Amino acid sequence: MKVIVTGGAGFIGSAFVRMAIGETDMHVVNLDKLTYAGNLENLTSIEKDPRYRFVEGDICDAALVDSLMAEEKPDAMVHFAAESHVDRSILSPEPVIQTNLRGTFTLLEGARKHRLKRFVHVSTDEVYGSLEAPLEADENYPLNPSSPYSASKAGSDLLARSYFVTYKMPVLITRASNNYGPYHFPEKLIPLMISNALEDRPLPVYGDGQQVRDWLYVDDHCRGILAVLRGGREGQIYNIGGNRSLPNLDVVHKVLAITGKPESLIQYVTDRPGHDRRYALSSEKLMRETSWRPLMDFETGLGRTIDWYRTNSAWVARVRSGAYRTYYEKNYGNREAVSS
Ligand code: NAD
Ligand code: DAU
Repeated sequence: MKVIVTGGAGFIGSAFVRMAIGETDMHVVNLDKLTYAGNLENLTSIEKDPRYRFVEGDICDAALVDSLMAEEKPDAMVHFAAESHVDRSILSPEPVIQTNLRGTFTLLEGARKHRLKRFVHVSTDEVYGSLEAPLEADENYPLNPSSPYSASKAGSDLLARSYFVTYKMPVLITRASNNYGPYHFPEKLIPLMISNALEDRPLPVYGDGQQVRDWLYVDDHCRGILAVLRGGREGQIYNIGGNRSLPNLDVVHKVLAITGKPESLIQYVTDRPGHDRRYALSSEKLMRETSWRPLMDFETGLGRTIDWYRTNSAWVARVRSGAYRTYYEKNYGNREAVSS
């Protein structure tokens, strides 16, 4: 099978490419614009494999998408490319709308023209919005996104589904919970807390830190996507969760315990606007229809992730230089310290 992977230089996309090349016989063409979040260092372990090709480009570029599909004649596409960070989408919504909506539309049109056999659209549990305990969203739960990021993902999900309904295109949608693991860009909660803790910097916890997220090890997510790519039913949506819900503050305490750093590093700061209190989803459907299960226990996965950040301090230093500092100042500079 030949697969075009979009966004394969990012956190989850690169884990998927490493898995597809390392553990399957797939051929992979990775189309990535190399935004701040795209990093070819994530792919050095497989970059010379004859089944792998990298193409630098924008998924919004219709001519490029068309010529790439004509040249490569892929069997499938797995679409990860996105502006993926909620805080950045709040600071500046325009790139989110462009890539997540326009980019998805451009790929769907390319897939339609070239009669692609399988289009897996990678989405998120954030489209369901905040749920009161003990509710869990299944795939029929209403969409209720809160941020420009999650609204753009909900919009692109609906667009992808419309191509199944209208054009009978073989579209499948996955919605995963919060991923963590190696190569995670240190703007998201876990890699930011790990990399700050390792450098004895403050750990900025939004609001009271009691917001709940469900944590999914990135390789479990990638195996779930492979299961959907191979065995999912066309037109269907599949949730992929880690089955490990935790308040943010518990996650931060675990990071401090494993890194051996003091709790005094925790700094409560002004909350994220429109902050969703709790995400929770059921992955029953994927487990019923395939043999997929989340395998990684959270404490083991977090320990491995922290080991990776300790061992790869040069990677961290490179991605935290330059534009990262500007972003950090913009997102955290005006946040006031608040009491918990
Ligand atoms: P990421 O930000 O780490 O990587 C995004 C990648 O997309 C980067 O390599 C970037 O260069 C590329 N990209 C961005 N705009 C592009 C464009 N216009 N054209 C081509 N490439 C472009 O993101 P991630 O965390 O790996 O997330 C990947 C996907 O998974 C996203 O669609 C996201 O919505 C979804 N998702 C993420 C999570 C999570 O916890 N991170 C959970 C569920 C779903
Ligand atoms: O649920 C899936 C989603 O998970 C994905 O669709 C997104 O792409 C991904 O970024 C992630 O979104 P979140 O907003 O949940 O992730 P983030 O790591 O940014 O934040 C996790 C929680 O931690 C959230 O409640 C906000 C909080 N937080 C985050 C940061 C960066 C803090 O308290 N302090 C911080 O500095």
